[in-house]
Amino acid sequence: MCGIVGYIGNRQADELIIKGLERLEYRGYDSSGIAILNGALKVHKKQGKVAALRAIVNEHDTTGTLGIGHTRWATHGEPNDINAHPHLGGRGRLALVHNGIIENYGVLKNALMAEGHTFESDTDTEVLVHLIEEIQREGNLSLEEAVRLALNRVEGAYAIAVIDRENPDILVGARKASPLVVGIGEDEFFIGSDASPFLDHTKKVVYLDDNQIASISRTKGLKIKNTANETQPPFIQELDLQIEALEKDGYEHFMLKEIHEQPQTIVDAMRGRISSKDGLVYLRGIEEFANRFVRANRIIIVACGTSYHSGLIGEYLIEDLARIPVEVEYASEFRYRNPILNEGDIVIALSQSGETADTLAALELAKQKGAMIYGIVNSVGSSIARLTDAGSYIHCGPEIGVASTKAFTGQVTVLTILALSLAQKLSTISNTELQQYLRELELIPEKVREVLEENDHIRYIAQEIKNHDNALYLGRGYNFPVALEGALKLKEISYVHAEGYPAAEMKHGPIALIDENMPVIVMATNPSAYEKIVSNVQEVVARKGRVIAIVNQGEKAISKIADHIIEIPATDEPFSPLLSVIPLQLLSYHIAVELGRNVDQPRNLAKSVTVE
Ligand code: AGP
Ligand code: GLU
Repeated sequence: MCGIVGYIGNRQADELIIKGLERLEYRGYDSSGIAILNGALKVHKKQGKVAALRAIVNEHDTTGTLGIGHTRWATHGEPNDINAHPHLGGRGRLALVHNGIIENYGVLKNALMAEGHTFESDTDTEVLVHLIEEIQREGNLSLEEAVRLALNRVEGAYAIAVIDRENPDILVGARKASPLVVGIGEDEFFIGSDASPFLDHTKKVVYLDDNQIASISRTKGLKIKNTANETQPPFIQELDLQIEALEKDGYEHFMLKEIHEQPQTIVDAMRGRISSKDGLVYLRGIEEFANRFVRANRIIIVACGTSYHSGLIGEYLIEDLARIPVEVEYASEFRYRNPILNEGDIVIALSQSGETADTLAALELAKQKGAMIYGIVNSVGSSIARLTDAGSYIHCGPEIGVASTKAFTGQVTVLTILALSLAQKLSTISNTELQQYLRELELIPEKVREVLEENDHIRYIAQEIKNHDNALYLGRGYNFPVALEGALKLKEISYVHAEGYPAAEMKHGPIALIDENMPVIVMATNPSAYEKIVSNVQEVVARKGRVIAIVNQGEKAISKIADHIIEIPATDEPFSPLLSVIPLQLLSYHIAVELGRNVDQPRNLAKSVTVE
């Protein structure tokens, strides 16, 4: 995954780069490094967070106005100082940072070793920079041309930034399947894995496309070529993103801030798309392809992690309301199992980052097979947003905490609107029903606000159950995917083992796990399954499991027998995930804080998973 930053201009590069890396730490944080060119290449690298790198840089002279930096999520070679980027070419002329995987690095490495190259690190990246430097030396080429020729020999995924000791006026960046964006300032340029490192300096950006190489010079500006050596005109865009969106805003963690933003982000996801007054339900992406959607044989949703869970809710929504068959697949499985796709199929990708490699690859496959591809994405201008035929942004603003929260409710909101829009077009619900649904949907942000008021109560429950090694999450119907999501949230930020199950499946196996040491978190808010879930709770209580139940306000039966209850407002069943997930987000947040975990940057994870 990794974050890349580059700077060329007239200001000191070190602080700009380190600040940029801090913004990109969500992409990886097991080591980081910087290279500044000022006559010589000054390279500093350190295992651990960017703060460790900052401390070292503070003790050294790193003056210079051209440089690159990297924050790593290791794929090849353990996370230590040596494997940290930047890596140098064999003769120390070039320094390079890389995000992605060079798949044929083994073959290239052997060939280079046969020519006398020796390698310091275990990374695939070091092979690439040796290769570029070797090609440059042999042909006495410009950096840009050497990069181009080398990339023609490389298989895999990359975003790279390279600088050349012998040319203090050139910064080269290139991408294939990993993101890279160029920021254009006044007499200065930036490179980033996304725009956050330089957003306070410029909002003018150029997103590189696959196989493009950008060469940036202080004097000659930005030039773009592709790996086939064709010149490409840069497409300059003005970003509509505020820097405040990247700050914590007084909250202790980004995750807590993002949980609390949900009443607003859900409104943002709905804005201009629904109105109960006018009976309006409108998603532009759907309208443009209305015929295809209405005639669709099948919708296939592909996604990973939390986005996969919103996809499951999408399946319930679309089948329930619009009666179109839906399948939901992990993108990584879909891609490699030779799926059957027909022309009448529509493939929808769900992704917060829009950069998840598995999801991107699944979409590419679907496109090749002739299916229409649609994206529901948060990150504007991301690779998935650009690849799809049409799509809808969820408009949640940057999500920085590794654990996805507001993007989940944003995705579910858009899927709800999508399902209602298709239901209207297919007349699978009446106008009166539609109006009622829309009226209720408009109340959801306020109801989310009410659930957030349970924060202190949920913190108290977290203190009570924080010392258990396992937890079980149960739900039925619309609340089953919510159970999966609750378990994932707990696992990823508190490192407590948890599983989500359809409540009725418990008796087919997991019930054997239940004793007084097993907290069981039950979502019991959906009326259609209420009686059944009361029985499931009885079954847990009979085996001395500790029950934490999410129930509708005023609920009686479960409240009497559960150890803890969290009351939330009732809503129409299809919208229940938007409310029942909130206590689960808060519960895992507080448990993780109680256990002293790094909530925003949990171990081994990264926000944007751009490797397969
Ligand atoms: C969510 O909390 C996770 N960190 C992770 O599962 C995430 O949802 C997954 O990697 C998919 O990311 P995307 O939505 O950016 O594609
Ligand atoms: N493959 C490179 C490494 O392991 C980059 C990793 C990445 O982008 O995730 O250092």
